[in-house]
Amino acid sequence: MELIVAGNREDLVKARRAGTVALVPTMGALHEGHRSLIRQARVRADQVVVSIFVNPLQFSPNEDFSRYPRTFDSDLDACRAEGVDVVFHPAVEDMYPPDRQISVSSGEMGRIVEGAARPGHFDGMLTVVLKLFNLVQPDLAVFGQKDAQQLALIRRMVADFDLPIEILGSPTVREPDGLALSSRNRFLSEDDRRPALALSRALRAGAARLTPSEIRRTAMAVLDEAGPGLEVDYLALVDPATFAEVSESYEGLAVLAVAARVGSTRLIDNVTLTLNPA
Ligand code: PAJ
Repeated sequence: MELIVAGNREDLVKARRAGTVALVPTMGALHEGHRSLIRQARVRADQVVVSIFVNPLQFSPNEDFSRYPRTFDSDLDACRAEGVDVVFHPAVEDMYPPDRQISVSSGEMGRIVEGAARPGHFDGMLTVVLKLFNLVQPDLAVFGQKDAQQLALIRRMVADFDLPIEILGSPTVREPDGLALSSRNRFLSEDDRRPALALSRALRAGAARLTPSEIRRTAMAVLDEAGPGLEVDYLALVDPATFAEVSESYEGLAVLAVAARVGSTRLIDNVTLTLNPA
């Protein structure tokens, strides 16, 4: 099947076929992490739609919207190679007419951890994801664990707004040295690479400990060792569904999440672990 590139909502409607539809929302600059989501969608649905849209609403004025990498031609090659049916690539004016008023509020859960570091980010993210859900009308949508709080918020929105969409989470794809793949990794210089590796190393070291206090202390010690090349934003050990910090007696799945700046590049990473298993 030829890949259909839909540049606006009318073309998207024309591309619709019968059968189950899976949506993989992205901001482009596709890498192996995105491709693993596409492959998961491919095995589950008759029609796979990948959206490529750098969403201005989820960048604050001091963030990297204009600098965000845009590699549309090679993104299309990647989509063809993965057997994608439709790429939805709307213009900003098509998504956001000037008279728009209403947006999604991510609530308290959107203002903690990553949300505290990036005010407004999760409101903008949920707003575009809800619009993409309404435009594409997928049966299922695939998101990466790499953005664990984003995934938790999307699950919350689907529950709170009764959206008839199954949400699949997909494991984080990493470089052989542990660095989580990210569209922003291309901004890391040779010298940035060493401090950047402290993120995944700290998460692994933390995840090998047993109690919340030991996990936090061990991971923070590894981050501290990285020296001044790494500016830590937060290290958090949280409940994966709510992103509230876990107590010392917490039992069950938890997410150890970190954000740090290396030079001018901001990186996030996380691992899932089980606390106090019976
Ligand atoms: P983007 O950063 O392009 O990521 C698109 C999807 O790829 C997200 O679900 C993200 O979690 C996943 N992803 C990124 N890196 C990954 C990795 N190393 N392994 C596995 N999955 C990975 O996230 C967004 O775009 C936007 O916020 C979006 C949801 C598209 C809304 O604008």
